[in-house]
Amino acid sequence: MLNEKVIELLNAQVNKEFYSAYLYLQFANFYVDQGLSGFANWYKIQAQEERDHALLFIQYLQNNDVSVTLEAIDKPDAVLQNNMDPLKAGLKHEQYVTSLIHTIYDAAYAVKDFRTMQFLDWFVKEQGEEETNASDLIKKMELFGSDPKGLYMLDQELGGRVYSAPSLVL
Ligand SMILES: [Fe+2]
Repeated sequence: MLNEKVIELLNAQVNKEFYSAYLYLQFANFYVDQGLSGFANWYKIQAQEERDHALLFIQYLQNNDVSVTLEAIDKPDAVLQNNMDPLKAGLKHEQYVTSLIHTIYDAAYAVKDFRTMQFLDWFVKEQGEEETNASDLIKKMELFGSDPKGLYMLDQELGGRVYSAPSLVL
């Protein structure tokens, strides 16, 4: 049986991951409105990945005989005014999610819950990649975003991203 505090944090993470999906859909919708379908594609896939993360947390809890509680998902509240805003909000959000994963890891570590620590290892690595991707996007936008041709090329590049299911299988 998992520790109560660990269960509470894992269950809360389900909601945070669905919120992340919601936030990235807001970004995708913003870019659709701007006519940047490649950026929209990138964030739509990002939203799918976040939904996958939520499902992984649910599966992990259920594999450990925990009954999962689904709470209301907050309205995505990012203020988006220009093409750079979602990218910066995305990096900030990923840094926040990293801190959440680390907090769960801390709680598992405190009670020697090696199973949950091993489960979270994948997310620790994933968060490192997410932060790198988010800051790479900001750098590219800084370099090429103010030039219409550069922005067009970047949009084409991001339009090429395809969804793939998470590599973690439970
Ligand atoms: Fe996530």
